[in-house]
Amino acid sequence: MREVPGGSTTPFLIGRAMTGGYGGADILNGCTIAVEKGEIAVIVGPNGAGKSTAMKAVFGMLRLREGSVWLAGEDISRLQPQERVAKGMAFVPQTENVFTSMTVEENLEMGAFLRRDDFRPTMEQVYALFPILKQKRRQAAGELSGGQRQQVAFGRALMTEPSVLLLDEPTAGVSPIVMDELFDRIIDVARTGVTVLMVEQNARQALEIANRGYVLVQGANRFTGTGAELLANPEVRSTFLGG
Ligand SMILES: Nc1ncnc2c1ncn2[C@@H]1O[C@H](COP(=O)(O)OP(=O)(O)OP(=O)(O)O)[C@@H](O)[C@H]1O
Ligand SMILES: [Mg+2]
Repeated sequence: MREVPGGSTTPFLIGRAMTGGYGGADILNGCTIAVEKGEIAVIVGPNGAGKSTAMKAVFGMLRLREGSVWLAGEDISRLQPQERVAKGMAFVPQTENVFTSMTVEENLEMGAFLRRDDFRPTMEQVYALFPILKQKRRQAAGELSGGQRQQVAFGRALMTEPSVLLLDEPTAGVSPIVMDELFDRIIDVARTGVTVLMVEQNARQALEIANRGYVLVQGANRFTGTGAELLANPEVRSTFLGG
């Protein structure tokens, strides 16, 4: 937590009272999502709740009618996505998050397009995190399994050496074993000081690794707490975690 005058505190990253949509009715209705430096925050909720929309709003892909987004004490609400990348954000969207006709290595190189310095050491770090990607570096990403593609998308995001990683359903369509492995790698990355905000369909498992959890319903905060608090909440369990 960052101390600010007046005794209140501002989280490292916060989308505050976000309201807006895609031009029609509002999809986000005053939703607030915050995460502290080096911590993991998880957004869960039913299909169509606005989870992906909230992520897009934090990344600047959505014009908010009301509310603001703050990073490291700075109001970044008016910045374009590429300007937010320059501020340290990386976003892995829910779908079409790899270039299927490019090789694994080309995908990683694409992630580094903004960098003017030598990105080879970062690529080696990504390969150390995901050894299978090094083995398959000359293969087209489209030929990989779902779990391996998620690793490519994750790795590509890491190529900018982000301070904030936004992951929309990083374990979509993978087996339970691969899901556990991906969550372990997310924990590894957070331990290096990277702030992680992710949306997850595998709510129970994701909340187990979450410092903070948000249950979103119809674009508004329904429940907020530590991952452990939400996992212990009977109403959250019965309604959103299948008992
Ligand atoms: N590009 C778009 N243009 C217009 N409406 C959209 C667009 N993307 C999403 N929506 C609408 O916004 C609402 C919230 O969608 P969103 O994708 O944010 O939900 P979600 O919680 O991520 O759902 P899921 O769990 O299926 O990924 C839905 O009603 C959806 O139809
Ligand atoms: Mg979504």
